Amino acid sequence: MLVFAKIKSVQQKIKSLKKGTSIGFVPTMGALHEGHLSLIKQAKKENDIVVVSIFVNPTQFNKQEDLINYPKTIDVDLSLLKSVFCDIVFTPTAQEIYRNNITSKSFNFDGLEHQMEGKFRDGHFDGVGTIVKRLFEIVTPHKAYFGEKDFQQLQIIKKMVVKNQIPVKIIGCEIFREKDGLAMSSRNSRLTKEHRKVAPLIYKILQKVKTEFGTKNALDILDLVENEFKNQPLLELEYFEIANEDTLQPIKNIEPKQKYRAFIAVFAGKIRLIDNISL
Ligand code: PAJ
Repeated sequence: MLVFAKIKSVQQKIKSLKKGTSIGFVPTMGALHEGHLSLIKQAKKENDIVVVSIFVNPTQFNKQEDLINYPKTIDVDLSLLKSVFCDIVFTPTAQEIYRNNITSKSFNFDGLEHQMEGKFRDGHFDGVGTIVKRLFEIVTPHKAYFGEKDFQQLQIIKKMVVKNQIPVKIIGCEIFREKDGLAMSSRNSRLTKEHRKVAPLIYKILQKVKTEFGTKNALDILDLVENEFKNQPLLELEYFEIANEDTLQPIKNIEPKQKYRAFIAVFAGKIRLIDNISL
């Protein structure tokens, strides 16, 4: 496994690959867990070589506190990457990526950016768009892998690639969960014991929503979700929404041939957790 911190070095290596070598790319912010590894394993199956980037991207954090507290576990990350036979790791510094201008470009994702996470994390998707576009330019992958855990991010990246005619195929990968159903996340390690214990309720509620969808209307389902959280004071609901998978617009009526998904964001103490389920 080769590790590069410099753009020039990773580009040189990629340029030196034999013609026709397919490159799969998995961008991450490190603090790797089984969820990340599942993306890498899939990329490994579908490509000749796999590149993983580890970069805690400052421009996508709207709270400085979150950026500072983001877990950094580079040594463990590198050994996990070795264990799944990752070929190349790219670990740039912020200086290497942004030089002296740590700012985002402004993107138009046809409204996808104004829904859900966009309402609560100002500038977040401009930051994500900026870094992912930059990483695609550096790594020039054939396929890039993103988790459905961040479903809105996945749809936004798909949109960015189409709008900017970037020659990469975006692959969405299923959410990887703990045995008790909690979606794996780098933030889970920051949960207190008490919060970790009750956090699986989030997925239990989503499963309930899936069962009720189609028999109850959206407002009744929202009531049901709000009531569940009222009974669990350790978890605070930030938003719950049922939306069209493609447009991310909140559901009005269930229309035939459309796919819907329920999305949720919850505070467990100071830690913000998100999850979603296809309906
Ligand atoms: P990060 O949160 O490190 O996640 C990297 C990738 O792993 C994302 O595509 C995310 O959706 C996926 N992922 C995380 N947890 C998962 C789980 N439990 N199951 C399946 N996939 C999971 O998302 C980012 O980093 C950043 O925004 C990034 C795209 C790297 C841009 O900075």
